[in-house]
Amino acid sequence: MAEENLKVLLSAEQIHCRILELGAQIDADATQDTVHLIGILKGSFMFLADLARAVKRPAKVDFIGISSYGMGKRSSGEVRLTKDLDLSIEGAEVILVEDIVDSGITLNYLINLLEQRKPGSLRIATLLDKPERRQRPIKVDYVGFTIPDKFVVGYGLDYAEKYRNLKDVCYIEQDYC
Ligand code: IMP
Ligand code: MG
Repeated sequence: MAEENLKVLLSAEQIHCRILELGAQIDADATQDTVHLIGILKGSFMFLADLARAVKRPAKVDFIGISSYGMGKRSSGEVRLTKDLDLSIEGAEVILVEDIVDSGITLNYLINLLEQRKPGSLRIATLLDKPERRQRPIKVDYVGFTIPDKFVVGYGLDYAEKYRNLKDVCYIEQDYC
């Protein structure tokens, strides 16, 4: 089986330090006693786990499932809900937690969906942002790292479901022949 050529873009240490800062920022901005963290499956699971521990006030945790990529490196542009929330978000201080904002199509869809459920507030936290590829304008409140237009894996992110378990964020070096 062909293995991809992986290079470290962000080390586990860099990620850890930045998430502590994001957690402190979320605590400082919060207006309610409890924040409601919603992880977008599957890519955000590691970021959500670390961000939840970096936030010091009580947090509720829920997940929403979305599918838009299939097995490739580019979005199909079609978003499908694969798992709905378990908890109500009405009146809640919601932080939607994403692994990476790329075209913005996924978040645009989810923001519209969640706004209909009347949260008290809805903010976006993403570990990674690739602004060069944006197709929908998205206001992201908490960005871990802004990165160039490279396909990245690790720390929750996958390529064809592989590499989610890497502790660093790596990019796939393209082979030119
Ligand atoms: P968007 O709808 O194009 O913004 O895509 C967002 C989703 O695509 C993210 O939640 C990721 O799951 C996936 N994605 C976008 N870029 C990458 C990447 O570089 N590596 C792995 N997954 C990615
Ligand atoms: Mg995702």
